[in-house]
Amino acid sequence: LLSSGHAQGDFVPNYDESKIPPYALPDPLQRTDGSVIKSTSDWEKRKKEIFEYFQREVYGISPVWDGKMEVREISKNESAIGGTAIRQELKLTLSREGRSLDMFVLLYLPKSAKASPVFLGLNFYGNHTVTDDKDILVTGAWIRNNETYHSENNRASEKGRGLRKDAWPVEEIIGRGYGVATLYYGELDPDFDDGFKNGVHALYPQQRDSSSWGSIAGWAWGLSRMMDYLETHAGVDKKKVAVLGHSRLGKAALWAGALDERFAMVISNNSGCGGAALSRRKFGETVGRINTAFPHWFADRFKSYNDRENELLVDQHQLIALMAPRPVYIASGVEDTWADPKGEFLGGLEASPVYGLFGKEGMPVSEMPAVDQPVMGTIGYHVRSGGHGLTRYDWKQYLEFADKHWGK
Ligand code: GCU
Repeated sequence: LLSSGHAQGDFVPNYDESKIPPYALPDPLQRTDGSVIKSTSDWEKRKKEIFEYFQREVYGISPVWDGKMEVREISKNESAIGGTAIRQELKLTLSREGRSLDMFVLLYLPKSAKASPVFLGLNFYGNHTVTDDKDILVTGAWIRNNETYHSENNRASEKGRGLRKDAWPVEEIIGRGYGVATLYYGELDPDFDDGFKNGVHALYPQQRDSSSWGSIAGWAWGLSRMMDYLETHAGVDKKKVAVLGHSRLGKAALWAGALDERFAMVISNNSGCGGAALSRRKFGETVGRINTAFPHWFADRFKSYNDRENELLVDQHQLIALMAPRPVYIASGVEDTWADPKGEFLGGLEASPVYGLFGKEGMPVSEMPAVDQPVMGTIGYHVRSGGHGLTRYDWKQYLEFADKHWGK
């Protein structure tokens, strides 16, 4: 579907557990000066150290938003989803120092409550692919050419309408009392290596350095701007917004959760390398591979860890730990070996001691559960049958998990 990066160059992924190089994971509860973290207030210092490291060495430093956001409602249907939901399309225009960027948000809210919890996530092929709704705008932004979703000459088309609805079961989400907000990720940053001339990066045209924000940080930053808007919406329970993403957008959702504590729940679907999976395992996609196939995703400095994962002072379990004590769900697909399902599980497991500090149970099991056997502590996890994708099965677990933590 997407440019996968599997087959470029002479990289041969390792899929053999016995060939994983020996490694020692950095301890989330030990500071770089050797002192051990024993309280939640000490954790705040350690958390800052870890966060700043991820920012500088991995995803890049994103700017503090200092511009203006203008909101325009471009459509409203008071009787969507068989009369059970209100659907809105909003155009959010960000502007700063004479430059601007438009974001077209699609939002469904159940009519059953005054203010509802919301799942917020970026989509891959445009808002019009998410449901069959006839009047949802087709994005005018750059898009990857794709036969299945009918994008040609880097433009989306009417023919793609509704084709991703399996990944966005809006009716079921609404039926369970949740809202859903989405945006086409290419409106935030077109997913190709253009030297950061377009998308959100263009709002901050200053000199870049090796720690400047890459595309993943750009997508995450855009999720925060969507949150800025959701906070102003009376129909949204702003204390219950879950940020969710699949694959590269799962990496972005995790980074968004680390950057922005307004996200009360974080969901990573098949996020793999640079997401929930431990980099040191070098199973499937590796740091070197991802930085070569997608040179624009991370800070430039991250490339200095190509094939040198052991030199990183963090691994991805510490990214999960940054969410503590908020609920996090990590999902894998058993055939999605490129994303290293076991590495994704371990990312959650190894973050658990930090949840323990807060008196919470992180991952409720210490061994990877069997296929299609979800487990739900404050960290949730499943490995479902099948491969890479965001499915109804995945959503079913996310709804359960939200019910469990948000008392439905
Ligand atoms: C590629 C890439 C992954 C990414 C995936 C996706 O396979 O190597 O890191 O998660 O695309 O976004 O679907």
